[in-house]
Amino acid sequence: MNDLEAIVASAQQSFDQATTPNDLENAKARFLGKSGQITELMKGMAQLSVDEKKSRGAAINQAKQAIEAALTARRQALAEAELQAQLQAEALDVTLPGRQRGAGGLHPVTLTMERIEQLFGSMGFEVARGPEIESDWFNFTALNTPEDHPARSMHDTFYVEGGSLLRTHTSPMQIRHAVQHVKRHQNLLDAGQRIPEVRVIAPGRTYRVDSDATHSPMFHQCEGLWVGENISFKDLKVVFTEFCRKFFESDDLVLRFRPSFFPFTEPSAEIDIQFQSGPLAGKWLEVAGSGQTHPNVIRNMGLDPEQYIGFAFGMGLDRFTMLRYGVNDLRLFFDGDVRFLSQFR
Ligand code: DAH
Repeated sequence: MNDLEAIVASAQQSFDQATTPNDLENAKARFLGKSGQITELMKGMAQLSVDEKKSRGAAINQAKQAIEAALTARRQALAEAELQAQLQAEALDVTLPGRQRGAGGLHPVTLTMERIEQLFGSMGFEVARGPEIESDWFNFTALNTPEDHPARSMHDTFYVEGGSLLRTHTSPMQIRHAVQHVKRHQNLLDAGQRIPEVRVIAPGRTYRVDSDATHSPMFHQCEGLWVGENISFKDLKVVFTEFCRKFFESDDLVLRFRPSFFPFTEPSAEIDIQFQSGPLAGKWLEVAGSGQTHPNVIRNMGLDPEQYIGFAFGMGLDRFTMLRYGVNDLRLFFDGDVRFLSQFR
């Protein structure tokens, strides 16, 4: 091996050993830099004769080209290796299963609400909604429950500045809806004509100072009101029986109307139901209050109690939901435990 071949071989080896672009540039300097080996050889040619310069120059140039070729090859190899490493580091395994977002579902009480709206809707009842912060007038006074009435003590609630309160039941919607209905048909009343029947349900949140396994400070009710000229308790019984049988999918379910008291109805009744089969068979279960709308309440709706008669009912939606699904603790509805809630999806 002559001296040039030795230099080329040495350069090749240095380049191969360089593992980073920086190493490689340092190695290059040792051969092709200002005082690199090839450069030094060029400088040394000054003393040679013209012929010697020719052949020696050509040989050095060849060696220089060989070194440059080796350098370029190594640069490319290093760049390629770096790209591969980067690709590997940022690799995305498209075969991995994706991160799942859990599917949500409606709350069981919401399911009950929707079911009730659908069933009463099929029997010609509208759905009305109203405020949860209510005035004393709609929550009590208009419902024939004056300030000193003992029934108020069973409806202890949360008061808001200015005398408003969190409604203790959905019954205020009876007045709110009927008043609107009457207003809409005022022209008929003025002309001495009859107005269309009021047939409405009003589901929503209600509040009382009450908390144990079967009571919570916030709970859900659904009000029902039917006002007309030629209706009777029989109509209420038929509609409510039909509703309960459909709701619980139980054709032989039996209803009992048990005399009771509410200030806004006279007479009043508690509605009890009894399943003929299943885990609750044979027990009377209280599910709603009901009655014939009190004449004072009819008057507060803007109607003449001599001409119009009304029937109302109010049911606990949490209770309906517990009975339908066999849930024994009301608090499960408010805990937000996904293990409980996902069973209703
Ligand atoms: N508002 C009553 C309560 O929360 C329930 C009720 C009873 C509603 C009789 C009615 C009714 O519409 O007629 O205790």
